[in-house]
Amino acid sequence: MPTANEDKFYRGVKVLHDPVRNKGTAFTDAERDLLGLRGLLPPRIHTTAEQELRVLGNIRSKATDLEKYLYLIALQDRNETLYYRIVMNNIEEIMPLIYTPTVGKACQEFGHIFRRPRGLFISINDRGRVAEILNNWPHKETRIIVVTDGERILGLGDQGADGMGIPIGKLSLYTACAGINPTQCLPITIDVGTNNETLLNDPLYIGLERRRVRGNEYNELIEEFIRAAEQQFSGVLIQLEDFGNANAFRLLKNYRDKSCVFDDDIQGTGAVGLAGILSALRITGGELEEQRILFFGAGQAAIGIGNTVVAALVAKGVPLEQARQCCWYFDSKGLLTQGRDNVTQPKLPFVHQANATTDFLEAIRLVKPTAIIGASGQPANFSESVIQAMLEINSQPIIFALSNPTSKAECTAEQCYQWSNGKAIFASGSPFKPVLLGNRTFASGQGNNAYIFPGVGLGIVASGAQRVTDEMFLVAAQTLANTVTEKDLTLGRVYPALSRIREVSTLIAAAVAEVAYEQGLTNKPRPDDILADIHQQMYQPVYPHYA
Ligand code: NAI
Repeated sequence: MPTANEDKFYRGVKVLHDPVRNKGTAFTDAERDLLGLRGLLPPRIHTTAEQELRVLGNIRSKATDLEKYLYLIALQDRNETLYYRIVMNNIEEIMPLIYTPTVGKACQEFGHIFRRPRGLFISINDRGRVAEILNNWPHKETRIIVVTDGERILGLGDQGADGMGIPIGKLSLYTACAGINPTQCLPITIDVGTNNETLLNDPLYIGLERRRVRGNEYNELIEEFIRAAEQQFSGVLIQLEDFGNANAFRLLKNYRDKSCVFDDDIQGTGAVGLAGILSALRITGGELEEQRILFFGAGQAAIGIGNTVVAALVAKGVPLEQARQCCWYFDSKGLLTQGRDNVTQPKLPFVHQANATTDFLEAIRLVKPTAIIGASGQPANFSESVIQAMLEINSQPIIFALSNPTSKAECTAEQCYQWSNGKAIFASGSPFKPVLLGNRTFASGQGNNAYIFPGVGLGIVASGAQRVTDEMFLVAAQTLANTVTEKDLTLGRVYPALSRIREVSTLIAAAVAEVAYEQGLTNKPRPDDILADIHQQMYQPVYPHYA
């Protein structure tokens, strides 16, 4: 919110061109006089409700989702309060436009649709002056940075600097879903080049025209960035986003104990996956330790979920080795079994004794899973035969197709319900429309880390936690699962309705903050009422009042 002192300098078009201060046609008569706006605006004064009506009408009249995305980004640049009102009041309609799946398309077209920069770009050529770049950011109160190097954007692979759409979208959700003030959010793209030939040959590509830098130069840039960010924005939370597999695991390992850092693809997905499984078990009636989960894909998302499931089991008293036996993996080289060469470190705990196979159907027959979870970025691999094989083993198989965007889902909601005759418990990473089967409607849940990261971030910011711990993701998963109602389950939904995401994020934030206080990760004294303390810190999209 602008202060009275700052506002002395903001008059006339300057106010209208500042998205934080701008109210468009909602400026009152008195404000128009005070700020020198008379004549610069049409005479009719509109209520925010009327402005929302206009915006929604405009969005709905656009022919494609990408055009809707562009309209929304332009609104964000013009009138931030109205933008967040629209997103928050219409989250089910708008989230797919500013996040997956549309944001995937936006990243693929980023250089072509580029209009106005948002966030910071730090390139490999900026080594030695990252602090200077961060100092150029106008909002000194930054509390959350989402940073990507664009190497693994959703399931779309290397998008280089065009991956910037992802940090921008994620931070919009921090504000919309968890009330982090937009001025506390900073999207950053680290441009170390791209190996995407299409982009390298595209004159409109916005990033460096070079192949990806690896090794020491890369590590030094990341190190310089993290140190400079901590220096510039004291206590800042850094979310690593859509890095390539090897860098993601390595950076998390290197920084998690030294800085306030987490990796959303590994830890956020871990928590959302566990929450979905816990809810599904309320339908099937089983215990977590009785499950055999076969992951399709063994990358950040799948290993993240496996690690979180294991942590939940260990917390229940299940011995570590037994807990690991609940999670099996099938990746691009087949079933993860003993005897496989060059198994990377994150997968090692999940190498089990079984016959080797590169056929997923065969893997299902060998492992006899109660659940299959797709996180491969490879579409259409949960075929009718796969679903049938799961039904031969389970009366109600758990089938999650978590790959994003929609085009990369392992199967669609409709396929899953039709092929299983409504018996499967389904969730997907990107949203699907409800499916009507006979006289039953299935409104499957969106197993997306958007249910987790905003609440975790809010809990960390509100409590002033200096580290992000596994326990925080465990309580986030349990809290999310607890918000799922019997009605949700009846609809086949293992996540709460998206319309409740702000309430859910607040509850997650309170649970995460409680862990921060318990684990002594903050210098702030524990408030008597953590939830009230969190509510009081949350941003509301309400216009500033000028007097
Ligand atoms: P990653 O690159 O770390 O891992 C991909 C994995 O898929 C690798 O283990 C690879 O071996 C495996 N794979 C590739 N081709 C395969 C094939 N033909 N058969 C079996 N496995 C194959 O990527 P990450 O971060 O794990 O993401 C994977 C997918 O999950 C992406 O589509 C991403 O958008 C999605 N995801 C969804 C999230 C959600 O909240 N729903 C969160 C994070 C990721």
